[in-house]
Amino acid sequence: RPLLDPAPPLPALHASLGFSVLALLGALYLVPALGNTFVHANLKGRDLLKIYDDPVPESLGLVCASIYILLLILFIPFAFSDFFNREHDSTRKPREGLVINEFPHHQLSVYLSSLLSLLIATMLGFLDDVFDIRWRHKLPIPIIASIPLLIVYYSEHGTTDVVVPIPLRWLLGSLLNLGPLYYVYMSLLSTFCTNSINILAGINGSEVSQALIIALSVILNDLLYLPWPFGFRIPLPLHLLGRPGVEVGGVWSAGMAYGSRLLVERHLFSLYFMLPLVGVCAGFMFHNWYPARVFPGDTLCYVTGMAFAVVGIQAHFSKTLLLFFLPQIFNFVLSCPQLFGLVPCPRHRVPRFDADTGLLYPSKAGFKNHAPSRLSALTLHVFSSLGLVELTEDPKTHAITETTNLTILNVFLLRFGPMREDSLVKVLMGTQVAGSVFAFVVRYGLAGLVYDG
Ligand code: UD1
Ligand code: MG
Repeated sequence: RPLLDPAPPLPALHASLGFSVLALLGALYLVPALGNTFVHANLKGRDLLKIYDDPVPESLGLVCASIYILLLILFIPFAFSDFFNREHDSTRKPREGLVINEFPHHQLSVYLSSLLSLLIATMLGFLDDVFDIRWRHKLPIPIIASIPLLIVYYSEHGTTDVVVPIPLRWLLGSLLNLGPLYYVYMSLLSTFCTNSINILAGINGSEVSQALIIALSVILNDLLYLPWPFGFRIPLPLHLLGRPGVEVGGVWSAGMAYGSRLLVERHLFSLYFMLPLVGVCAGFMFHNWYPARVFPGDTLCYVTGMAFAVVGIQAHFSKTLLLFFLPQIFNFVLSCPQLFGLVPCPRHRVPRFDADTGLLYPSKAGFKNHAPSRLSALTLHVFSSLGLVELTEDPKTHAITETTNLTILNVFLLRFGPMREDSLVKVLMGTQVAGSVFAFVVRYGLAGLVYDG
């Protein structure tokens, strides 16, 4: 790796902030302006949790994705402005060992492979909106879409080590090299991030608010790694970061200083992708908030999910990223029996709307034709004892006839009682924020208890 100027290209960050304002304005203006066009193209849905029947424009995530990706493409010259500035700076004398004016092709390949993955996610999401693709067909596509990311990760000697927590060291040693398995994990990350937001959906504002809060959490995490002016340093437990094999380990163990160029560059890259995402999501949320005037469709879920997978992999913080997905992980694990056919899965698992009270109640799935298998019954009884589902049993045979749907939204309604749709989305957002706070505590606080310094 050529030696580079240690000053990181922060001016591009200001441009990126400007682009995110453009993204916000673009979404605020274009989403309602194009709504009718979508209805005419038969991209519309009925709001399941309302009394009225008016068609609501669906898949407006396509507009968001278009604004987002086009702005990211327009941003490319800014992302490399540092190179252009150096090119025109004739006053600069070459320093010893310093390679000047070598175009950072590697960074460009990081950037372009990320755009490619986002485009595939947009295409897949939109096809899913139009054709309702089956699970077994849509699961492998994000995995294939992640191959360019993995190659780029490989090309820069990305680490495949994980640090083993202290209690397991007697068994595994302190550093475990997962090798190819680490690549399998990263490709699964892309399919997880895209689908997990999509299955935590169905109430106004739910999809986009998850994306917004995760993006803000990623941004906060990135800011911890920037070289702040005036000697201001955010106190990070550096000894932990310094461990070889922690996501940033390769860098620190190479003996670089705090705010090393490579580390800063990676988190800048993540900021370039996250800031406009926040803009576009905030603009969209304004129109998707209860009572929704537009729906995001699968396109928004896939694009935002892929954006997170992209930054997690390319900026080497995929494990920290997963910590920001705690509500989605919980919802996915809870959903598994329905996703994998142990428990019947209706087309929509959204809560049930009661028109008289105007409140949402947990929705149910019934075992219509057959009694649940032993495994299904066991799983449901375990969930029930944890207070995650409510079961209805046949008074004579005691066989389970009905269960509340296995989603986190229904769990909220079971635990906190029936509530309005806008209250439920606020509970979801509160949980997402609490999850992120917990993630920061685990990542930068508690890690010291599990990993020694
Ligand atoms: C996923 C969920 C499904 C949930 C649906 C709602 C799984 C396995 N699938 O399916 O249970 O019902 O998302 O998005 O968990 N809608 C609303 N209000 C909203 C958003 C959506 O009523 O705020 C309804 C509209 O009718 C809209 C439809 O949901 O047309 C979109 O559903 P779609 O995204 O196609 O469902 P899936 O992603 O397949
Ligand atoms: Mg969906």
